[in-house]
Amino acid sequence: MSTANLPPAGTPADDEGFRRRAGALLHSAAGDLRRTSRSAAADLGLTDADYAAHLAPEQGFSWDLAQRAATVWPLNERDLVPVRNDCPRGVRVLRATESASSARVFQRGGIDYYEYRATAMSRLASFRPAWIRMLSVVTDDDPHNADVHWNNGHMLYQFTYCVGPVNYYYRWNGRDHVLRMNTGDSIWGLPFSPHTFTARNAEEPAYVLALTYGGELMGDAQHELAALGPDTARGFALDTDSAAAAQGRLLRSYLDASALPLEHAAELSGIPAGRLAGVADGGTTLTPDEVTALAAALRLSPRDLLPVVPDAVDGVSVCPAATSRSWYHPPPGTATTGCANWPATGCTRTPAPWRSTRSAPTPTPPTRPSRPCAPTSTSTSTTSAAAPSGWPGSTAASGTKRCWNPARRPTSRRSSAPSSPAAVAATPPTPPACSRCASAAG
Ligand SMILES: [Fe+2]
Repeated sequence: MSTANLPPAGTPADDEGFRRRAGALLHSAAGDLRRTSRSAAADLGLTDADYAAHLAPEQGFSWDLAQRAATVWPLNERDLVPVRNDCPRGVRVLRATESASSARVFQRGGIDYYEYRATAMSRLASFRPAWIRMLSVVTDDDPHNADVHWNNGHMLYQFTYCVGPVNYYYRWNGRDHVLRMNTGDSIWGLPFSPHTFTARNAEEPAYVLALTYGGELMGDAQHELAALGPDTARGFALDTDSAAAAQGRLLRSYLDASALPLEHAAELSGIPAGRLAGVADGGTTLTPDEVTALAAALRLSPRDLLPVVPDAVDGVSVCPAATSRSWYHPPPGTATTGCANWPATGCTRTPAPWRSTRSAPTPTPPTRPSRPCAPTSTSTSTTSAAAPSGWPGSTAASGTKRCWNPARRPTSRRSSAPSSPAAVAATPPTPPACSRCASAAG
């Protein structure tokens, strides 16, 4: 697909849909406020004909009307602003050439620090990915190195996928941390945690895909919390030191909101009052049966009584490439597309001979080797796993290539393969690499 899914330059995305939904939103808002078309028109100072025109797609969205509605009705202008669908064909595509042409270099501390490039994204979701190359090169892992310049953190969560020798620095509860990252290592971080990246050498490319997103906090939730103010908003934050503490706070909040004495809730749910008090005090958690009984008594969904317990440590969750799980889908022998290298490289070419000789599947998903086949890795990183050959950022040239191709697994790993004749017969044939991957692998 090409960038034909984008509107012509100078045309807002989804103009027709935007206009149509503007009328529908106005009609819906008036209905929610128990207004007929005539009474809505009177409220807004419009004639019946003018009001009807605003509902029609030809008229489109009007800021004046939205402001008037927000003046006379208990709603916000944003309640009447429709979204623009910039993804009418289901995908957004940004070609590498377009991404490269978007490159811009930002400075920190008076030095070139990051090169940013655009990635595909849509206004329909709060995901804000960016390709970021580290321009500041350090020779140590000191978070106070003069060439390390931190940000102040940001509201968005951030998942980061690393390529090359990247240092990731993050601050949590006043403590600075450094992680030596390499290709395939990834990290997820909580909002408002200051962080930054550098490169460990200038010879290899060092860059990341930084996927930031707002989760459930962006949009209406953020606006509502902002309107309530920080003191009230702080009260919504549950104690998440433990599952018991979080569930206790959650239970207390529902009991308080419904002005229901704990003893009465115990009676309604059949849970002994002493036991329920222990839960409310954060001393223990509800059993599944108790959750069901209490949810029915409080007229809640059982889900409402289940707390979210963070699994991040010091504000981050790290997934080193060397220990990340891998699997084949579809299992080997059942693939309808893709060469032998597809799990590692994403190559979706189908070798022509394989297409005609594919046999019935006998899935035996191989695991990715934890050791290189050849040459031996010289990486010194504690979380390293260099890129497979053919990947951007592959370090094959510097002798740190690791082979993720099951056909080229280390000898020691091959020993775990079926050895009996019957087992060998049941092993599905491995599809060959396509011509491009075969030549790239040498
Ligand atoms: Fe960030």
